[in-house]
Order: sequence, then structure tokens, then C-alpha cells
Amino acid sequence: MAAMKKKSKHGKWWKALLGVIVVLGLWGGFVGWYKFFREEPQPPFESEAKRFMYGSLGAENDRGLPYWIWLVLPRMFPEYLPGPGGYKSLGMVWEPGEELPAGFSKKTIGFPRVANNCAACHTASVRTAENAPTQFYPAGPAHTSNVQAYFRFLFATAHDPRFNADDIMREISLVYRLPWFDRQLYRYIIIPFTKKALLKQEKQFAWMNRPGIPDWGVGRDDPMNLTKYFMTELPYDNSTGNADFPSVWNLQARAGQSMNWDGATPAARSVIIDSALGLGARPGEPFLQRMKELEAWLSTLAPPAYPYPVNKQLAATGKHFYAQYCAECHEPGQARAGKVIAIEEIGTDRERLDTWTQAGADAANAKVKSMGIDRIPMVKTNGYVGEPLDGLWLRAPYLHNGSVPNLHDLLESPAKRTKIFYRGYDVYDPKNVGFITQGESAQREGWRFDTAVRGNGNQGHLYGTDLSAFKKAALLEYLKTL
Ligand code: HEC
Ligand code: HEC
Repeated sequence: MAAMKKKSKHGKWWKALLGVIVVLGLWGGFVGWYKFFREEPQPPFESEAKRFMYGSLGAENDRGLPYWIWLVLPRMFPEYLPGPGGYKSLGMVWEPGEELPAGFSKKTIGFPRVANNCAACHTASVRTAENAPTQFYPAGPAHTSNVQAYFRFLFATAHDPRFNADDIMREISLVYRLPWFDRQLYRYIIIPFTKKALLKQEKQFAWMNRPGIPDWGVGRDDPMNLTKYFMTELPYDNSTGNADFPSVWNLQARAGQSMNWDGATPAARSVIIDSALGLGARPGEPFLQRMKELEAWLSTLAPPAYPYPVNKQLAATGKHFYAQYCAECHEPGQARAGKVIAIEEIGTDRERLDTWTQAGADAANAKVKSMGIDRIPMVKTNGYVGEPLDGLWLRAPYLHNGSVPNLHDLLESPAKRTKIFYRGYDVYDPKNVGFITQGESAQREGWRFDTAVRGNGNQGHLYGTDLSAFKKAALLEYLKTL
């Protein structure tokens, strides 16, 4: 009896302890969930344009950087940036009054995180004169942004011994007083984990730092190798395919035509889906819904009008020359528009074309299918696409590799086109129709583009190069109006 009594007394004690453990466990579980996984919707955006520039694609879960770390890194490690000015020195497109540059979304998943969206590469900025305010055009090419330097910056910080809890917490405390509990989370979990994640990501980008592989530079990346090595883990080859960020407005003009510079993707929806997956978005119903909305918005978004006066009469004359020499490949609905023109015929640099392979297309198609997403599959082609020339003035520099600084040069024979210029300076040059790419300011703010570097060739596309000076001037005037 006594033994039994004793046992039941113990039993009660154990039960109470168990109860406490369960409650603590539940509480801990709740706190863990709350602090790491609770998703807060972003505040509503005032327009679809703002949503495009700052809206989450759902990449914060897998690729999000903890906001407070992201914020203090440029102040802690300015030596790993190309110049003074924090992230702005990377040419990021930054609207006055905005907390983040275009292409960066902030969302709380447990804690505030920063991830990227389309606007990092697809939002243009331009000044009509040195002292004019910057204009921002979502869906235009981010011709100033050095995405590769951003990655390299993050990886360099992760290698630095100052990327540790003491130093980072001290820097954060200068700008914001995190609650005690959050400070512990940052110190013991978030900071060490972020460092590890960056070092792991650096390995996934090792291919871009191999000797003989040229830098992306500003306004470009190596899109097909990103797909091959990052999305599908194909073995490295020796290819390099740096491609200019294109404009992605007015997609309705491209309905039914080949997308991407080489036509590797036959439908806009497929490019949009693959791009978002590449950014780390999680597939699912909300994802597919967002993809539909993005496509709908981009389809009817009008390109911005040329901001300087146009000689209407001269442009009207130029329209005839456009119809005669260009429309066949560039005017939607015409015989060869939106179709692949074989590399032998177009004659531009072929490196970008050669980065993409049938194996790449097969692997990418299989990967997206394995995520449960149905989309028109990618293909391998043998040339580049003549795309609609809408909003052309803001798409400089020209051709798939950004090798021709302005439209004036594109109408010159390759021997006469500029061989070395500085891209990434956002002041416009209405005389040559492109951005200013020479002179002190362009050199200071721009990135040196050398057409002799592998993949940067400015040859080919000879259309209009042998026209008379008058015809060229008229054609140029018309091209401003597109
Ligand atoms: C890191 C830079 C980057 C990001 C981020 C990015 N893109 Fe792109 N995008 C490119 C490049 C470079 C190309 C050209 C690819 C090629 O070489 O064909 C491209 C091509 C496209 C095209 C085809 C355009 C054409 O002229 O054929 C569309 C449409 C597009 N992107 C939409 C998007 C959308 C929507 C997102 C976000 C979900 C996105 N992109 C994110 C760099 C980017
Ligand atoms: C036979 C077809 C064809 C004809 C004719 C043609 N183009 Fe093109 N065009 C292309 C192709 C293909 C590309 C893409 C080449 C590349 O990027 O390597 C292109 C690219 C361009 C670009 C670069 C677009 C950008 O966003 O960078 C411009 C500008 C352009 N063409 C203007 C013209 C003009 C002006 C004419 C007439 C004088 C013309 N094209 C005639 C096929 C053609």
C-alpha cells in the first residue's frame, strides 16, 4: 500500500513536470514558429508599378537576407564595394524616399528579410541632363546595376572575420534597438546561419569567377549559365554568355513570338516563371497567381515616350526607311518579326547563343516540371530574335550583349562603331540616341566596356549601315518615336 501510495505521489509529480514540459514545448514551438516562420503580408502598394519594384515574389523564405544584417553590411564593409555610397555604388536603381532600391522586397517571415524581384534587372533610370532629376521606368533595363558586384560584395563580407555576432550586433545597435529576445536570436542563430548560407551560395556561383570568364559588368548577367549551373546543376563548360537586361514592357507585342535574345523560350509566361523560380520563389498556387498578374501587367504597360523634342517631319520620312529596311524583322506581324534569324545571317557575337544547349533546355524543362509547374518548354535555337523596337531610346546600349553604345553607332559599319566606352552612367545623349558613354562623368560612374573582350563583339547587324547620311538621320529620328 505504502509503495503504491509513494508511486502515485511520484506519478503526480511526473505528470506535473510533464505538463510543464509540454507547455514549455508548445510555447517554445509557438515562439519558434512566430520568430522564424510567421508570414506577415507586405503592406499594400499604391500602384502595380510599386508592387513590381518592391513586391515580394516569395523568395524571402529561401533566399531572404535578414534585414538588419543587409542594412549594416555596406557600412561595415565599404572596402568590398566599388565606391562610396553604400549599395548605391553598385548602380542600383534607388528612388528618393524609398527604403530599399528597386528590385528589393522586404517581408517579415518570422523576422524582416530582404530578397530580390524582377525590378533588380528590369527597372531603368535616366536623367535628361546632368542636373535633371532621375526618372524611373519599371520594366525598362536596369542599365546601371552591377548585379555581379552585389553578389561578390555579399560573399566577401561573409569571409571577413568581422562578420561575427559581436561586430554585427554592435553595428545594428547603432541604428535600431532590437528587443532582448531578438538580440539573442540574431546573435546565436541568425548571424551564424546567414554567414554559412552566404558561403554556401558563393560556392554555387564559383563558375563565374573562373579565369578567362569575363565579368558581367553593369546592366548584364550571364542568364543561361545561371540557369545551367544554378537552377539545374549541369556540369561547367567553358561558355560565357553575358546578356544585356532587356525591356519587358508591352509584352502583348510579343504574343506568340520567341522570347529571350536567342528565342530559347517560346512564351512570355515561361520566361516569367523561370525568372521567378531562379530568384528563389516557392512554387504553389499563390506563386502561379502572381505570375499571371505580372504577365497581365507587363503585357499592357506602355513604354515611355522619348523625352526630348522630335522633328516630326523628318521622323515621318524616316518611317518609310524603317518600313523598307527594318520592319520585316522588327515590326510585330511582319514575316520574320519575333522569329530567330540564323547566326550566319545576323552575324552578331555568338557566345551568348552558344551558352545555351539542348541539354540545358532538357534539364530546365525537367526541373520546372518536377516542381509541378506546367509551362511551354524551352528550346535550343541557332540565332537571335528581331524583337519589337518599343521604347527603343531607353534600351541603350544595343544588341544582346550591349556592345553598341547608341543608335547612331548601330547604323555605322562595325569597323566604325565605338570600341571602348563606359556604360552605366544614366545621363542621356539625344544626339547619338543612347546614354553618354564617354567623358569624365561616364568614366567615373560607368563600367569600362571593351568590345575586344570575349562575348562583347560589336560586329554584325549591318542593316542600314550603308544608307546615305540623310536617310540615316531620318531613320534615327523615327527610331526615337518608337
Ligand atoms: C538578375 C537579373 C534578372 C532578373 C532578376 C530578372 N531578369 Fe528577366 N531577363 C534578364 C536577362 C539578362 C534577360 C535576357 C535573357 C537572354 O539572354 O535571353 C531577361 C529576359 C527576360 C524576358 C524576355 C524579354 C525578351 O526580350 O525576350 C522577360 C519577359 C523577363 N526577363 C521577365 C522577367 C521577370 C518577370 C522577372 C521576375 C520574375 C525577371 N525577368 C527577373 C535578367 C533578369
Ligand atoms: C534580317 C532581320 C533584321 C533586319 C532587316 C533588321 N534587324 Fe535589327 N535586329 C535583328 C536581330 C536578329 C537582332 C538581335 C541581334 C543581337 O542582339 O545579336 C536585332 C537587333 C536590333 C536592335 C537592338 C535592340 C536592343 O534592344 O538592343 C536594334 C536597335 C535594331 N535591331 C534596329 C534595326 C534597324 C534600325 C533596322 C533597319 C535599318 C534593323 N534593325 C533591321 C534582326 C534584324
